[in-house]
Amino acid sequence: VIDPLAVLRSFYEDALHLARAEHEEEPGWREVARTALVADGYSVLVLQRLREGLARLHVPGGHRVLRRLQTVLYGIEIGKGVTLGRGVSFVHTLGIVIGGNARVGDRVRFMGNNTVGTARDNGYPVIEDDVLVGCGARILGPVRVGARSVIGANAVVLSDVPPDSVVTGIPARVVRSQGAARPARAVAP
Ligand SMILES: CC(C)(COP(=O)(O)OP(=O)(O)OC[C@H]1O[C@@H](n2cnc3c(N)ncnc32)[C@H](O)[C@@H]1OP(=O)(O)O)[C@@H](O)C(=O)NCCC(=O)NCCS
Repeated sequence: VIDPLAVLRSFYEDALHLARAEHEEEPGWREVARTALVADGYSVLVLQRLREGLARLHVPGGHRVLRRLQTVLYGIEIGKGVTLGRGVSFVHTLGIVIGGNARVGDRVRFMGNNTVGTARDNGYPVIEDDVLVGCGARILGPVRVGARSVIGANAVVLSDVPPDSVVTGIPARVVRSQGAARPARAVAP
């Protein structure tokens, strides 16, 4: 059974988290509404919440139709078993693939063209809250990316990343620990 109010609340909470990421001060309803209207990443999340609802209701084909719509409209593929936290941000949606039973925490930011998947059919990543995944980065296998870490552009993560660290390269290695520097706020076009 689906509680429509819970679905509406999830829409609002997603927009609120995304608006907070764009504003220094606590956003009011106008900022939240603006984010909901203009951010492509928010539309992806709305489709995702609807998919989750339809999957729970076992509506035949409904989940698949919305998955295709996500891909056709935004160039993003999110597998059926994936868990997305609140306010996950797809700054650029193109080329993002998240597969299997990967778990993505709250407010994780994907900069675009990212893969979160298996390395050799050995399991899927867990990405903790507030991680930033740089453009082109891949996170592969049953690895855990610690909260607030930054994955550098084009890195390939094949082992666990400690919280609050910056990793770069192939395979990704820690280049900075304790208090990852946040790249300048990136806003979608
Ligand atoms: C990793 C990153 C966050 C910088 O983090 P930082 O903690 O400030 O790290 P620094 O810039 O001090 O670099 C540390 C070292 O890693 C190297 N490095 C930085 N980014 C790198 C990357 N993506 N790949 C490989 N090496 C990288 C630097 O050259 C430096 O090497 P050195 O110590 O030999 O000189 C940044 O370079 C990055 O990749 N950001 C992603 C931005 C993005 O996705 N933008 C999308 C816009 S649409």
